[in-house]
Amino acid sequence: MPKILVTGGCGYIGSHTIVDLINNGFEVVSADNLCNSDERVLDGIEAITGRRVQNYAVDLCDLAATRQIFTEHPGMAGIIHFAALKMVGESVQQPLRYFHNNLNSLLNVLACMQEFGVPNLIFSSSCSVYGNAAELPVTEDTPWQEAESPYGRSKQMGEQIIRDALPATPGLQSMLLRYFNPAGAHESALIGEAPTNAASNLVPVITETAIGLRPEMTVFGADYPTRDGSCVRDYIHVMDLADAHTKALQYVLEGRNAAPCEVFNLGIGEGVTVLEAIRAFEKVSGVALPYRLGSARPGDVVAVYADKTRAAQLLGWTPSRDIEDIMRSAWAWEQRRKKGSSTFVRDNHISG
Ligand code: NAD
Ligand code: WQD
Repeated sequence: MPKILVTGGCGYIGSHTIVDLINNGFEVVSADNLCNSDERVLDGIEAITGRRVQNYAVDLCDLAATRQIFTEHPGMAGIIHFAALKMVGESVQQPLRYFHNNLNSLLNVLACMQEFGVPNLIFSSSCSVYGNAAELPVTEDTPWQEAESPYGRSKQMGEQIIRDALPATPGLQSMLLRYFNPAGAHESALIGEAPTNAASNLVPVITETAIGLRPEMTVFGADYPTRDGSCVRDYIHVMDLADAHTKALQYVLEGRNAAPCEVFNLGIGEGVTVLEAIRAFEKVSGVALPYRLGSARPGDVVAVYADKTRAAQLLGWTPSRDIEDIMRSAWAWEQRRKKGSSTFVRDNHISG
């Protein structure tokens, strides 16, 4: 059973990916300092898979603590490096904190992979590396524009650090996965998006509004040059994303990759407007969402969605869930949290 270290394993995408990895025969160890998550997610993972995952609550910016994990788990087959700070707006306010956290954690993971001979790195990158892309859909070869935020730049720099490290590290290979807009929850509603910091992404804002945690939500911009005036994004179900990680890992473990570093866009390949997302939510939930049309959010791009051809052809990955599946699962998760389930009680703070 190949053993995988999942950094950020208590976080949103990490926890869903752990479920998929376990269901596909991998043994998993997590490293997450819980700066935006809660270890109770491990109860949810256990309830779904029957496996208790060990989490090291260490800051990966601490090299000695990171080394200790590698010492205790010799012979790991690979690492999926999710751990990062991810809030675009916060990164504008606290750029040095973002660069410190996102780059030092990556450098330490790479140093330990070199030292302990761990060969495969799957890296969480983001569509934010494209900046305000000049062409749609975005392919992996679409030229990068200036990043819109320190967060986006930390992902650009992370990718470049990995590319530079590979030739100097024989045997090391890396898949750079660029996610578009991850959303939704595991079908069981036992795990879902549960940041300890206030959520700002569209889907949690919708469900938090619908359940009454926010009085109303604002659609940021209603006169963009799109089919209904609101922004277009590519919402990808988190379990489809989890499946892509498992497939990317199998791809490198089986030696099917053509180069030591390959890049994949992970999106559904279709644009959905904010108003269409709201309508999809209202349809599957039966709840009329209190929202108002507001002004554009600074820094938002008008439209971005992925060309997913490469992931389909090389990884054999085809997302199977759409925006309604996203909303259905996110709503089930939100309702379950409201009940204060024994596996995960809401205690984050809401702003806005
Ligand atoms: P998340 O905040 O839910 O998960 C990240 C986890 O990493 C958290 O549990 C946090 O506690 C942990 N972490 C952060 N810094 C750490 C450190 N120094 N040491 C140990 N643990 C640390 O975020 P997520 O949505 O699951 O995102 C996972 C990855 O995917 C991130 O790298 C993020 O940048 C990337 N990504 C996310 C999105 C998105 O919209 N969710 C989109 C594109 C890319
Ligand atoms: C989606 C759409 C908003 C909240 C960010 C990062 C990106 C990636 C995914 C990490 C936009 C609109 C939102 C609200 C709204 N993350 N919206 N009212 O900004 O597309 O992407 O998360 O890598 O890099 O930039 O995601 O969910 O914040 O917004 O109208 O209350 O919803 O304007 O059009 P975004 P989002």
